[in-house]
Amino acid sequence: DETHKLRVSLLDWYDLNRRDLPWRTHHREDEEKQEEELERRAYGVWVSEVMLQQTRVQTVIAYYNRWMQKWPTIYHLAQASLEEVNEMWAGLGYYRRARFLLEGAKKVVAEGGKIPKVASMLLKIPGIGDYTSGAIASIAFKEVVPVVDGNVVRVIARLRAVSTNPKDSATVKRFWKLAAQLVDPVRPGDFNQALMELGATVCTPLNPSCSSCPASEFCQALSNAKHDTAVAVTDY
Ligand code: ADE
Repeated sequence: DETHKLRVSLLDWYDLNRRDLPWRTHHREDEEKQEEELERRAYGVWVSEVMLQQTRVQTVIAYYNRWMQKWPTIYHLAQASLEEVNEMWAGLGYYRRARFLLEGAKKVVAEGGKIPKVASMLLKIPGIGDYTSGAIASIAFKEVVPVVDGNVVRVIARLRAVSTNPKDSATVKRFWKLAAQLVDPVRPGDFNQALMELGATVCTPLNPSCSSCPASEFCQALSNAKHDTAVAVTDY
């Protein structure tokens, strides 16, 4: 059906266009190391997604690499002081996020050191909300849950021609529901990242590149614009 075709199209596009980012490590076959690798990956996704919340990818890369060099595992981070963490965070802003990251690491380590594998459990960690829990659970652990950030809201608003103001917090709930219906059941993490990348690079706020969009065939706003019936695509 339509949703299936959209998923395939987006994932194919992502496979060709995904950026090679330091937190996008590949799953390894090496059985002995698998559990350890999974933990490291989840920790890396956690750190990177918190950094990415108010900061651009290009800026985050250097901060992420420095952070992971100093605290390569959640056990290392749990030993850090708030001063060290703040110093490492300098320039990223919103220092509360850094403090939450430290508090979260301490809580996880105090409770055995395993990062929870499902979003509902991740939500119990200080500083982890809907966005971060969805990102860690789907990207690191392949739980089929959605992730909605500003880019995803814009992409879905256009796909489904949602005309209510996507910035209105009352409608955000609706986008989580729509995203939950879209997310790919086999590759949820890749699908969620594909939506984010599409919003950042193709489905941009102004002058979106609809002619090179893998979802153009399924886009209600583009279809409306072509038929001159409703708002232009750039209105989102
Ligand atoms: N923005 C925030 N998280 C991201 C991710 N995992 N991939 C691409 N863009 C993002």
